[in-house]
Amino acid sequence: MKGIVKLILLLLMVFIYISCVQETKKEIIKRKPMKITKQTFGKVDTTEVFLFTLTNNNGMVVKITNYGGIVTSIQTPDKDGKMADVVLGFDNLPNYLDGHPYFGCIVGRYGNRIANGKFSIHEKEYSLAVNNGPNHLHGGIKGFDKVVWEARTKKNTDSVSLVLKYTSPDMDEGYPGNLKMRVAYILTNDNELHIVYRAKTDKATPVNLTHHSYFNLGGTQENALDHILTIAAEKYVAVDENLIPTGELKDLNNTVMDFRKGYAIGARIDEVEGGYDHTYVLINNGELLKVADVYHPATGRAMEVYTSEPGVQFYSGNFLDGNLTGKGGIIYNKHHGFCLETQHFPDSPNQESFPNTILRPGEEYGYTTIYKFLTK
Ligand code: GLA
Repeated sequence: MKGIVKLILLLLMVFIYISCVQETKKEIIKRKPMKITKQTFGKVDTTEVFLFTLTNNNGMVVKITNYGGIVTSIQTPDKDGKMADVVLGFDNLPNYLDGHPYFGCIVGRYGNRIANGKFSIHEKEYSLAVNNGPNHLHGGIKGFDKVVWEARTKKNTDSVSLVLKYTSPDMDEGYPGNLKMRVAYILTNDNELHIVYRAKTDKATPVNLTHHSYFNLGGTQENALDHILTIAAEKYVAVDENLIPTGELKDLNNTVMDFRKGYAIGARIDEVEGGYDHTYVLINNGELLKVADVYHPATGRAMEVYTSEPGVQFYSGNFLDGNLTGKGGIIYNKHHGFCLETQHFPDSPNQESFPNTILRPGEEYGYTTIYKFLTK
């Protein structure tokens, strides 16, 4: 009799064990929808370009096209788990091809302005394409935001990535040297979007790559002036009327420019001529550290920015003027989105006191920026 009871107990334990293992397996499958898919997005001239959809275990979705390395959509949850798209952009390629103010793209060879499109290396003067008044902006007439990058997808243990490659030829937009680049967009299961930049050249050339997403954590229905922004910087790069640095790094000293304590983008924007469009000098000593965070009180969505770059361009979407209609038929008015472009300072090739931006043969250019999405 005792033996039968023991056998029944043993069978029961085996049954419970098997059910537990099966449940855990189901759980793992349920929690692991992490994936990366590819679909056609249209053609640039005769070249087919694609839209890649990166999804992590939490259901966060990032869409990127290899045309310009443009992030077309980032869907993140609010404090109640409701998903919304938190970047400006379009849902089709023709709209991007028609022209736009650098929505979501990779910017280069040089993010921001180079005065009069001129600089010298070893006493040789170079003239770049001029596309912003008298100056060169964001790589010129056809910057890296308008080229088709070679794309490869990768699935890692805890992330999915899209690796983009492009070689900018010698004298491209006036820049010397063949610049071989690799930019990886990595979506992790911690709701972080990593952007890892690498480049090598065969002639000395300025390089300053950045990313130009316009964020609006409210879901892009309203303007972004209600976002609370914090930037870990004590100084900013002073500029003239053409947004070219004067060479001075100014103390923020509790002025309207000072975001150390965190306050709404719109709180004092009227006191800043033209709106915010300034490079903040970051306190990170070249280490990958948190340099900014943004909080949208109505939805509880927040975003943290980490970088090892010495600066971040905070641009409050001042030139958006209602002329562009984006995803979902939303008209993009002034201040509809804001950019936090991690980078070196504008016009560094002409400013001896600024951190170096000249990449030389044999050296490797590289840095990482992380945009981390969370709720509070
Ligand atoms: C950057 C610049 C701005 C503007 C935008 C694009 O953020 O700093 O002045 O040119 O790009 O419209």
